[in-house]
Amino acid sequence: MRLIVKNGRVIDPANGFDGVADLLIEDGKIAKTGKKISAQGETIDASRHWVLPGFVDIHTHLREPGFEYKETIKTGTESAAAGGFTTVCCMPNTNPVNDNEAVTRFILDRARQEGAVGVVPIGAITKGSLGLELAEIGELVEAGCRAISDDGRPVVNSRIMRQALEYSRIFDIPVINHCEDPDLVGNGTMNEGLVSVALGLNGIPAAAEETMVARDILLAEHTGGSLHLAHISTRGSVRMVREAKARGVKVTAEACPHHFTLTEEAVRDYNTYAKVNPPLRTEADLQAIREGLADGTIDAIATDHAPHTDDEKQAEFDRAPFGMVGLETAWSLTLGLVEAGVLSIGQAVEKLTVRPAGIMRLDKGRLSVGSDADIAIVDPDAQWVVTPENLRSKSKNTPYAGHTLPGRVTMTIVGGRVVYRHEKEMAA
Ligand code: DOR
Repeated sequence: MRLIVKNGRVIDPANGFDGVADLLIEDGKIAKTGKKISAQGETIDASRHWVLPGFVDIHTHLREPGFEYKETIKTGTESAAAGGFTTVCCMPNTNPVNDNEAVTRFILDRARQEGAVGVVPIGAITKGSLGLELAEIGELVEAGCRAISDDGRPVVNSRIMRQALEYSRIFDIPVINHCEDPDLVGNGTMNEGLVSVALGLNGIPAAAEETMVARDILLAEHTGGSLHLAHISTRGSVRMVREAKARGVKVTAEACPHHFTLTEEAVRDYNTYAKVNPPLRTEADLQAIREGLADGTIDAIATDHAPHTDDEKQAEFDRAPFGMVGLETAWSLTLGLVEAGVLSIGQAVEKLTVRPAGIMRLDKGRLSVGSDADIAIVDPDAQWVVTPENLRSKSKNTPYAGHTLPGRVTMTIVGGRVVYRHEKEMAA
């Protein structure tokens, strides 16, 4: 099986390469890169397009098993492919929770049978993600989990968080925490501030996130374990991660596109599609996230793709679930940061590829000879309008409906196989 991707602008930050080149793909791997490669096989003309390492999402909710009415491994990975993602790391808040090898093996089997892209399971930190007792972490790692997290819920008990970080050293995996102090969150549904007061909604203060970020940094420093902070959303969290990194603490952090493109103003009209956890914050927080991305404090861009049905979302604000789909808009929203002069194109690509892969200890996110041929091809000049019914995800809960975004994904290749092709944009 041979494929030649010709004449694209190849942007491969991991190898410090940015220039027009061809890629020869053989048996699922990148066999050769260079100018004017001639070989037999299917040729893809990538002129005027960018050829990037396939994106790696470190934070995806695929919902299967248990919530197949929202998303399945099949539909979630099809959504990923449409967004240029070639690997997704799936969170364990399924039903049953991925806290044992049977669930991990089920996910991996399903992904092998039906997955459009690679799936890397994240196991639970605690049994049932209830925060009371550590899961069998060795068993989860043995079965194929590459990180542990109780995402959707924080690890409240500091002793358990300490133990999890100690395990992270033994197994060389990151502990991913969803930081929020439940007592400070209370029954909050949006950012606490002037907007929540005006709307009469209960607020979630920035300190709910920041107190746990502070604790986790101290525990990571104490244990030497590797801590990854999921979806940080506040100025204070960015500042603490920056300081911790300067002290040499093994901490990494991700930010989600909605936290660097939207503020609490998006919920002004009680728009449940903008209800997410952690909540959309203030303009100052948004700017701090952008600065954190630019100066390297925030390592990765992650989607927190969280599908929920319209029936669930079309409820009163207090009752609607938190979360939004994100796989199909993440690349374009990230490109928006390049257009706004916040990130260089290399930084943007790095934060969607080699950086998240590195956090997960995955040999992905680069276009080296010998690497898996996982590739995203994008048209940087093609604008598109987000139309929920056209999303591949089974759920359509996006706050970006009607927004015009830059940079269409036109083709996604996983292991040398074309798994997505945008019909209008690109012909083989
Ligand atoms: O908004 C969110 N939705 N945040 C989370 O942490 C969990 C997620 C979900 O699973 O729906």
